[in-house]
Amino acid sequence: MLAREKEQNPLTVDQEQATKPEAPGEKTAPGQEQKSSYRPQFRMPQELISGLEIRESEIPGRIDWKELFGNDRPVETDIGFGKGRFLIEAAQTFPDRNFFGIELMWKPYRVARERLAKRRLPNVRIVRADAKWFVAERIPDRSVAVHHILFPDPWPKRRHHKRRLVTPPFVEELARTLIPGGVLHLASDMAEYFEELTYIVESAGRFELIAESTIDPERDILTNFAAKYLREGRELYQARFRLVGEGSG
Ligand SMILES: C[S@@+](CC[C@H](N)C(=O)[O-])C[C@H]1O[C@@H](n2cnc3c(N)ncnc32)[C@H](O)[C@@H]1O
Repeated sequence: MLAREKEQNPLTVDQEQATKPEAPGEKTAPGQEQKSSYRPQFRMPQELISGLEIRESEIPGRIDWKELFGNDRPVETDIGFGKGRFLIEAAQTFPDRNFFGIELMWKPYRVARERLAKRRLPNVRIVRADAKWFVAERIPDRSVAVHHILFPDPWPKRRHHKRRLVTPPFVEELARTLIPGGVLHLASDMAEYFEELTYIVESAGRFELIAESTIDPERDILTNFAAKYLREGRELYQARFRLVGEGSG
């Protein structure tokens, strides 16, 4: 995990990357070795990418989902989508729903972008952004049917806990952005961390637990991490919470 990149201001990272050429041939000072993480297979034809990815800078305020997807079908997010397996399979399985992915790290983001672009799925859009910032600033109130946060980084060391995605303020943002009766779906491979996630969500007083189970490849759509962990024979935990209370009729 590139912790250094994570700690940067998400907007700064995005702007830097947006202006940085991705192809080789970048100008390099004489005598200086060119250091580039450019990988040719990530270079997608622009017409495949445009329409799939949006950039933070293109959205001045909160997103208009209808405008973004061209329809008003229910929207599900995949927060921290990694290499995109869940997004691809969910979008193919449920063509009548829209899927919006948010991923912080460039490396998995580019892998997912390439895979998604090749499939030309009309019901998927992605953004490279810090979800904490993006959800709070760019997702409208009561507009998302399901938030999926699958295998969030546990950051086990105490001094790294501040990097965790699922925190009480973020859970408030998730609640704000869900439609009445909307669902928050969480998964983890670590029993202890899964309990902690469940505790944080329940402590917010905005959700009720509606389902808790291990992940079953026969029934569940797998993420990249889920597939890898299942191959290793590990037990994986998931829970679904429904938004209740104030205004969620
Ligand atoms: C353990 S991986 C799981 C990826 C994917 N959900 C899966 O299960 O295969 C966690 C992902 O969350 C992303 N992530 C962590 N913090 C994030 C944030 N603040 N905003 C968006 N994505 C984030 C990481 O970059 C990483 O790709």
